[in-house]
Amino acid sequence: MASNKIYIFDTTLRDGEQSPGCSMNLKEKLDVASHLESLKVDCIEAGFAISSKGDFEAIKAIASHVDYPSVCSLCRAVKQDIELAAQSVETAKKPRIHTFIATSPIHMEHKLKMSPEKVLERAVDAVTYAKTFVEDVEFSCEDAGRSNPEFLAQVYSAVIKAGATVINVPDTVGYMMPTQFGELIHYLGDHVVSIENTVISVHCHDDLGVATANSLAGILNGARQVECTINGIGERAGNTALEEVVMALAVRSDYYDAFTDVETTEISKTSRLVSHITGSVIQPNKAIVGANAFAHEAGIHQDGVLKQKSTYEIMTPETVGLSENKLVLGKHSGRHAFMDRLNELGYQLSDAELQQAFERFKSIADKKKDVLEDDLHALISDEIYQHNDLYKLDYFEVNTTNESKPSATVRLAFDNKVLTGSSEGAGSVDAIYKTIDQMIGETIDLKEYTLQSITGGTDALGEVVVRIYDQGRVFVGRSSSTDVLNSSAKAYINAINKMLNSRGDEQVKPAL
Ligand code: KIV
Ligand code: ZN
Repeated sequence: MASNKIYIFDTTLRDGEQSPGCSMNLKEKLDVASHLESLKVDCIEAGFAISSKGDFEAIKAIASHVDYPSVCSLCRAVKQDIELAAQSVETAKKPRIHTFIATSPIHMEHKLKMSPEKVLERAVDAVTYAKTFVEDVEFSCEDAGRSNPEFLAQVYSAVIKAGATVINVPDTVGYMMPTQFGELIHYLGDHVVSIENTVISVHCHDDLGVATANSLAGILNGARQVECTINGIGERAGNTALEEVVMALAVRSDYYDAFTDVETTEISKTSRLVSHITGSVIQPNKAIVGANAFAHEAGIHQDGVLKQKSTYEIMTPETVGLSENKLVLGKHSGRHAFMDRLNELGYQLSDAELQQAFERFKSIADKKKDVLEDDLHALISDEIYQHNDLYKLDYFEVNTTNESKPSATVRLAFDNKVLTGSSEGAGSVDAIYKTIDQMIGETIDLKEYTLQSITGGTDALGEVVVRIYDQGRVFVGRSSSTDVLNSSAKAYINAINKMLNSRGDEQVKPAL
């Protein structure tokens, strides 16, 4: 039996959400938080309170929404940030404030324009002030990976004296190599004063593809908390993937002498939910949660697995919540069966939402023989999460042949009015998008359009994900339908609605 408990600190809703195009609305954040609670993560970092009113409100809502995990709010080592962070977690059963300041020479000189002495003073002041609001205070030396280890030891010792309960060591730019990062954690364990009563945490970015390896090296050297995100989403190349660290510890607890309390059978559905909501598609060969993670293609492997699963499987798909029988519902399924299946997948809907989702399910089931688990995820993210719609698709028609230029007519509902427009395009999707651009009076900067089938067969739902840019920000729209032109139109409108809604929520974008 492994003896060291590793605390799982999930930052999908903060570092993950911060990455381009991954922003989520309140309902989406609450659902992700519920899934994280079912996963039994120890701490949810719910947002960066000062960054926007939306973030502040979301942290507050999450703080009241979950019971089991601590709820953490991020803030710079700045008085006003700390006050807002404290307010945002006021109602949490287990509130945590996470404050940080950069300590690398490059950040101190060029970004903060502060001397090391000043940075040390600000770090101590921040922790001392945060302690006046909550007991549980985490402190990070941003860019610790490129900081002087002696200076790190000095700062961490001082903040522990000021009351920090967790000291986090971020490799902010994903620069460290596993052995080196492990040695840094070891060094801090030996040189930080009173470290024995404090949790050492690691927070690794994946710029060189070693975030998980670095986090595990941290554990081998005394770290007791890992900061991670579902599917590894996050700034640039992303953060350490929760599912990778958790399963590495589950499968190799013998090697690490460590365990987590994560309910691993919840991994798969949480991963899919986050992927659907953020529109960030999981690469098929992604460890643990990729579509091929448990597929055996080579004949010799298939033969081995049929004889004895353990020949080529180090964990079973069931351990991460993948069921072999993915067939779920058909057109004769009733409301009750539909609701039960949604509950099993982790969705809790109000009566009105259930009714809305059920109607959509019936219309899909009329067109498609079997409605599978993935179809239900797509249906829910389409029907329930996409609210605050300024524009709604009312009707569209496309005329096209293999010889003529396609033309589209689109009707949009907007502000109790119905608008109609038409235009030609290079293809059917182009004709629809040009018409929509004309109708809303903007030329949308469409950077990416992807179409993939959710399940097999010609009647499968086709899921369209689009990325549009506006004033340096990215907005992801997604939609699925048995008709790809319908999902194309709706995904585009979804991204436009997110863009327009966000213009009302001015981002304060503080320099990290
Ligand atoms: O990567 C980083 O340094 C961070 C800190 C704010 C912890 O996300
Ligand atoms: Zn980070």
